[in-house]
Amino acid sequence: MNILQINSSARSEGSFSTRLADRIVARLREADPEASLTLRNLTGNPHPILDEAALGALFTPAAQRTGEQAARVALDDALIAEIAAADVVVLGVPMYNFGVPAQLKNWIDAISRAGVTFRYTANGPEGLLTGKKVYVALTRGGKYRNTPADSQVPYLATVLGFLGMKDVHFVYAEGLAMGADAEREALATAYAEIEDAVAA
Ligand SMILES: Cc1cc2nc3c(=O)[nH]c(=O)nc-3n(C[C@H](O)[C@H](O)[C@H](O)COP(=O)(O)O)c2cc1C
Repeated sequence: MNILQINSSARSEGSFSTRLADRIVARLREADPEASLTLRNLTGNPHPILDEAALGALFTPAAQRTGEQAARVALDDALIAEIAAADVVVLGVPMYNFGVPAQLKNWIDAISRAGVTFRYTANGPEGLLTGKKVYVALTRGGKYRNTPADSQVPYLATVLGFLGMKDVHFVYAEGLAMGADAEREALATAYAEIEDAVAA
């Protein structure tokens, strides 16, 4: 089993989402000691934004790309290769201003490539990153689970599903900014949800 862990908190120290993602990976590796782990730490190694230069590089045929364009596409290729090789994907995802961190959005933009990770057929879109299990550790200062303010879960379920990843387990640590008791309770709940998710 190949596990790919993606950390997207902007914090390199004290991140709850990274802590929960680490916990999920630890539990998976306890169940399968042979499992390999690829860690993509977007905190320390941010992926570049999908800007005009990147789009230009992606839409230029490979043989005609400048060295700079080829280098930019190669950065995305590396992320695509990592997720293509993964059997299990573990995402650590804080809520930032009601959305996902920009780093995670950049990663999603990088792995979403027509003809490679999805394609359109006569029957509609088809995701090509199939056969994977995904665990998402969500951390929030407030409490938004199952409310219209939680745009993260519908967004992630949609885009991951579009790419072929439909087996997605979300675990939540909410209320982390609501005092020490709330923080303790949030982490205990998240740890319990991790046990259920890895057993599922
Ligand atoms: C820039 C920023 C924006 C945030 N926006 C939200 C938000 O919209 N809703 C919320 O519940 N918490 C918000 N928070 C709180 C974080 O979700 C919370 O601190 C979480 O634990 C951060 O993840 P981390 O511990 O992995 O770094 C925000 C925190 C930061 C630093």
